[in-house]
Amino acid sequence: MKYQKKRETDEAAQVSNQYNIQWFPGHMARTLRVMEQEIQNVDASLILLDARIPLSSLNPEIERITARKPRLYALNKADLADPAVTEEWVRYFRSADAGCVAINAKSRGGAAAVRAAIERELSGLLARRQARGMGGAKTQVMLCGIPNVGKSTFINTFAGAARAKAADRPGVTKGKQWVSTETFDLLDMPGVLWKKFDSRTIASNLAFIGSIKDDILDVEELAMNLLDEVRRNYPELVAGRYKLDAETLALPPYELMEAIGRRRGLLVRGGEVNTERCAQMLVDEFRACKWGRITLERPPRRGDADDGEDEA
Ligand code: G4P
Repeated sequence: MKYQKKRETDEAAQVSNQYNIQWFPGHMARTLRVMEQEIQNVDASLILLDARIPLSSLNPEIERITARKPRLYALNKADLADPAVTEEWVRYFRSADAGCVAINAKSRGGAAAVRAAIERELSGLLARRQARGMGGAKTQVMLCGIPNVGKSTFINTFAGAARAKAADRPGVTKGKQWVSTETFDLLDMPGVLWKKFDSRTIASNLAFIGSIKDDILDVEELAMNLLDEVRRNYPELVAGRYKLDAETLALPPYELMEAIGRRRGLLVRGGEVNTERCAQMLVDEFRACKWGRITLERPPRRGDADDGEDEA
């Protein structure tokens, strides 16, 4: 896909490979094997994606495993994403004949939207069960997604009680667990990342939103890439947040980061900018939506070639 290809470099591939071991630990491989088995026993799957990076959070292994049953995509954290682009994404998935809803897992509305969408997706099956006098059987749904996408939060809201503990770091959900409501049995699978990243864009996007553990990343590089990426599509948000004029906004990424650090008074003795602190501040503020609602990926246009420019 051109959006991903655009920024691939040999150097990036090396960086990705270097991190593969940490990015795909043994428990993720085990989770995929369990998913292969469990998909046979459920009625449908619910794939949580991050609305800010729908493609980069769409794990091809999960896609492959869940393809054999009806599935619904939920674009979670839609409250952090650009609403206009989220609408485009919902249209994109639906035009490929997949159920898709945009949600905020923290809100009850999000859970209700998913419940209704699953019932819509499975209307045929539910009607058949009803006809066979099995209308009371619970709908079994496998819940999957990458680490930190909001599965625990979703389950808490969906099941109406604090059954799964939301945590502030990726990879906390360790084993599969069933969570039941009156009409659903939800099988919560631990978050799974990629076995191998094919593009720098995917790796970077996952890092930007916090799905890859920060302690294996260079935070300054992360922040510079983030600034560079976001200023292309949302220059006004970066400029507005850090009170930058057009000239400063156009600086090379390291100098831009320094300018922001200086403005924020993040200095060390001698008056130099503490770029590490500045980088962490930038990443934290982006993740907390302080820059504004931002989506880092646009849906590919139908019939897109693999090269050329993206829509802004
Ligand atoms: P996981 O099980 O998939 O690993 O994710 P988890 O539910 O632990 O959620 C990871 C973080 O994402 C949590 O934030 C959670 O509150 C947040 N989150 C989940 N869904 C949404 C959503 O739709 N919108 C927003 N804005 N945030 C969401 P945290 O900072 O780690 O924890 P907390 O401070 O919220 O307790």
